[in-house]
Amino acid sequence: MKYTDLGLSNTNQMFANAIAGHYAIPAFNFYNMETLSAILRAARATHSPVILAVSESALKYMGDDMLIGLIRGANIHPDEQIALHLDHGTCIDTCRHAIEIGFSSVMIDASKLPFNENVNISKTVVELAHRHNVSVEAELGTLSGIEDENTSSEYSTYTNPSDAEKFVTQTGIDSLAISIGTSHGAHKRKSDDEELRFDILSDIAKRMPNFPLVLHGASSIPTHLITTINKFGGHISNARGIATQQLRRATEMNICKINVDSDLRLGFTAAIRESLSENPGNFNPREYLNAAINQMTQTCIDEITNIMGSNNKIN
Ligand code: G3H
Ligand code: 13P
Ligand code: ZN
Repeated sequence: MKYTDLGLSNTNQMFANAIAGHYAIPAFNFYNMETLSAILRAARATHSPVILAVSESALKYMGDDMLIGLIRGANIHPDEQIALHLDHGTCIDTCRHAIEIGFSSVMIDASKLPFNENVNISKTVVELAHRHNVSVEAELGTLSGIEDENTSSEYSTYTNPSDAEKFVTQTGIDSLAISIGTSHGAHKRKSDDEELRFDILSDIAKRMPNFPLVLHGASSIPTHLITTINKFGGHISNARGIATQQLRRATEMNICKINVDSDLRLGFTAAIRESLSENPGNFNPREYLNAAINQMTQTCIDEITNIMGSNNKIN
């Protein structure tokens, strides 16, 4: 399946526009009809380009046919600037498979391997993907936290700016995910005054002035969602995300893709907990799932508008 037959775009033009306009394209993770609907509703309501991110485990959860069926059912028009992106692809075969079934962008994440091995595997994916006009993201440096069902790391290693420059030249990738202090999951910082390493980001951006950089683990973990979850029977303690101001600042420095998964997970969970608790007699899933879609749509709209700055960037 060619991604253009699904109305999808690769990320190249989106990133060029984002760098020039100092904003970021949101990459929201989806794994079912409810998450996909919320993301698309928000992108369409705000006239924002969007990257629909699917992790390896989400791909396995939905299955190829169901995933592509959902995308086809979304009736995406090429003018909407919507990409379907493999998030944290761990090997060449998964990237090849994603390209074959209709993804317009893939991430090869070999960041846990030594530099030269990361270069070799990323370069191979670039050769493969570019034949199909599919964009490639790779990662240098390690984020702490759980990345997917199979990979996690306790400690982060910041990206080395001079290695980043070499890595981009040697691989021919289209965008680079860097590690400057963000992490996956809902526990990103120990205190409110912990800052991202803007010195590293600024050094990388100076070395590669027009090159698209990506921030993973960038959920802001809205306090009201944690409060709702805990009020209605959940227990999430010490959750802390990346401050909105810091994310805005990053978009001024060539961060043109910001990855958000945890915030939607929180919105989904908060809405379902609240709905079930307020309507104890309800056993119609469409009622609480609708509440979840509405909450996730609002979360996406808030972030597109207040963090990404990607609203009104398409006609
Ligand atoms: O960074 C990765 C995402 O949060 C995906 O997580 O594999 O549990 O879908 P997942
Ligand atoms: P969060 O856990 O901060 O939402 O990060 C998501 C992510 O980086 C997906 O690749
Ligand atoms: Zn990630």
